[in-house]
Amino acid sequence: MSRLQLRRWRLLSSPPRGIRGLALLALLALSVAAGTDCPCPEPELCRPIRHHPDFEVFVFDVGQKIWKSYDWSQITTVATFGKYDSELMCYAHSKGARVVLKGDVSLKDIIDPAFRASWIAQKVNLAKTQYMDGINIDIEQEVNCLSPEYDALTALVKETTDTFHREIEGSQVTFDVAWSPKNIDRRCYNYTGIADACDFVFVMSYDEQSQIWSECIAAANAPYNQTLTGYNDYIKMNINPKKLVMGVPWYGYDYTCLNLSEDHVCTIAKVPFRGAPCSDAAGRQVPYKMIMKQINSSISGNQWDKDQQAPYYNYKDPAGHFHQVWYDNPQSISLKATYIQNYGLRGIGMWNANCLDYSGDAVAKQQTEEMWEVLKPKLLQR
Ligand SMILES: *[C@@H]1O[C@H](CO)[C@@H](O)[C@H](O)[C@H]1NC(C)=O
Ligand SMILES: *[C@@H]1O[C@H](CO)[C@@H](O)[C@H](O)[C@H]1NC(C)=O
Ligand SMILES: *[C@@H]1O[C@H](CO)[C@@H](O)[C@H](O)[C@H]1NC(C)=O
Ligand SMILES: *[C@@H]1O[C@H](CO)[C@@H](O)[C@H](O)[C@H]1NC(C)=O
Repeated sequence: MSRLQLRRWRLLSSPPRGIRGLALLALLALSVAAGTDCPCPEPELCRPIRHHPDFEVFVFDVGQKIWKSYDWSQITTVATFGKYDSELMCYAHSKGARVVLKGDVSLKDIIDPAFRASWIAQKVNLAKTQYMDGINIDIEQEVNCLSPEYDALTALVKETTDTFHREIEGSQVTFDVAWSPKNIDRRCYNYTGIADACDFVFVMSYDEQSQIWSECIAAANAPYNQTLTGYNDYIKMNINPKKLVMGVPWYGYDYTCLNLSEDHVCTIAKVPFRGAPCSDAAGRQVPYKMIMKQINSSISGNQWDKDQQAPYYNYKDPAGHFHQVWYDNPQSISLKATYIQNYGLRGIGMWNANCLDYSGDAVAKQQTEEMWEVLKPKLLQR
């Protein structure tokens, strides 16, 4: 359905009666055809982006009006997981960046092809009425390898991509996958089928302690080796590296330690998750901006773990409990990002852009700039 047809359909769903009603309808249709319902200062900003960049910088935005402070010289796609903001859409388009919807659906429902078709139609219509450029499918639900959901999910991605590409020229359909294809969090997905079926997958290289099978101790959100092993495994399955965008965390985990040893081993509470005895669910997610505010009052100062190639610090809360905070900073992110050039991945992105401090305070400004800076491809940086 074209945008114009869609508008007509919406008008006709509460049909005005009589000649005057029809005249009004014709007038409205004319104004829609002239593009006057475009919320942007320039009507051409409502056109979908057609350009395909060589390097993707895929940004998740969760709302709040701070997106104007992002580094738009780098952004190629914004996945809007907050409330729709037409101003953001116009601004992104003025910078040549795509704006995509969030796609989430209950997997039990998508076994039915008719349900899939109506879900996809609804999403395409929404994207059109909001002048958006695609969809990011974010399904983090458990799937059994032998269940009907397994094939239905691949079919959903394929059908979504076909429909978006057909209905919105130049549109982009992407899918979020776990840090490794090895059934993380009991997500048995057809990764090769899904990667084939969409433009690219966003690899969520974080929450890597969601299932801790060994000792219940605090550890890095995205340890260096573990993260890169995940990419090696995707590539070993014959997924083209150009179908992989590396997702890095702009947040960390704050764990309350049951015991903090002198050599900084923080024992954490046993919180089981999808079969594993403990999990990062014992911790609390904290944005980079909060971590940067807290680090100077920590008891350990900034520490670097050589095995995990990640920073952390310990602090004592007002009630006297010890905490350990693991996070990512420009140093740990740039180490991982080197892999992107070495293996020819499609690009980089983060969960999420709102996690930095855009207040304009001098120290914060510097820290925020450094986080954006490390996203740049290394060859261009030096
Ligand atoms: C994955 O999906 C593709 C495309 O539908 C299919 O050809 C392939 O057999 C599937 N692989 C597995 C392991 O199910
Ligand atoms: C708890 O931490 C203290 C040092 O803070 C250490 O001496 C002790 O061995 C730790 N206990 C356990 C069970 O790890
Ligand atoms: C924390 O300490 C560092 C080094 O002493 C300093 O440069 C920075 O400004 C401090 N950060 C804050 C938020 O005060
Ligand atoms: C990380 O991987 C490298 C290369 O495979 C290996 O030499 C090293 O021991 C690993 N480090 C850890 C902490 O697992």
